[in-house]
Amino acid sequence: MNLIVAVDNNWAIGNKGDLLARVRADLKYFASKTTGNVVILGSKTLATFPGGRPLKNRTNIIMSTRDITVDGAQVVHSVDELMETVKQYPSESVYVIGGASIYNQLLPYCERAYITKFDSSFEYDTAIPNLDESDEWKCVEEGPWQVCDPETDSVLDMRFMFTTYERVK
Ligand SMILES: NC(=O)c1ccc[n+]([C@@H]2O[C@H](COP(=O)([O-])OP(=O)(O)OC[C@H]3O[C@@H](n4cnc5c(N)ncnc54)[C@H](OP(=O)(O)O)[C@@H]3O)[C@@H](O)[C@H]2O)c1
Repeated sequence: MNLIVAVDNNWAIGNKGDLLARVRADLKYFASKTTGNVVILGSKTLATFPGGRPLKNRTNIIMSTRDITVDGAQVVHSVDELMETVKQYPSESVYVIGGASIYNQLLPYCERAYITKFDSSFEYDTAIPNLDESDEWKCVEEGPWQVCDPETDSVLDMRFMFTTYERVK
C-alpha cells in the first residue's frame, strides 16, 4: 500500500480543515499517481472535495464510523474492514490520500510513501510523523526543487519537490 501527501518543513499537512497550499504541479502529480487506482480517504477529507464527491476515475474507499452512503464510493467502518476490502486489489495500486487521522492510522501498513515537500513553514493544526526521523523509512528518490507558478498556485516564492520513501523495517 502507498501513501501520498504534501508536507511542509514541519511535516504539517493541513490547517483549519484545508490544505496548506494548492500547487498545480502537485495536484497533477497526485492525479498521475492515483488515476485508475484505489484511493483511501477519511470522511473529513471527502467533505473538502468539490460537492463532497469522490474522485473521478478512481476506486474510492471512504472511512467513516457513521452509517453513511456515498454515491460512487464504498464506505468502510474500521481499519479491519478496510484491510479485508483492499485485499482484492494489488497493494501497489492502493493509495492512502488522507487526512491526518487516516495517514496516522495507516502508515504502519504502507510500504511506499510519495511525499511532496513544500519548502516553507505554514501555520498548521495537523501533521504526520517525520519520516526522516524514522529508522523504518528511507528516502529513495528526491528532487529536483521546482518553483511555484504565480499564475496557478496559491503561494509565491516557494520551492517544492517530489520525493519517494520506502519502508526498510
Ligand atoms: N497535505 C495533504 O496532502 C493532505 C491530504 C489530505 C488531507 N489533508 C488535510 O488533512 C486534514 C483532515 O484530516 P482529519 O484527520 O481531520 O480528517 P480525515 O482523516 O480526512 O477524516 C477523519 C474521519 O475519518 C473517519 N475515520 C477515521 N478513522 C477511522 C476508523 N478507524 N474507522 C472508521 N472511520 C474512521 C471518521 O469519520 P466519521 O466522523 O464520519 O466517523 C473521522 O472523523 C485537512 O486539513 C486536510 O486538508 C492534507
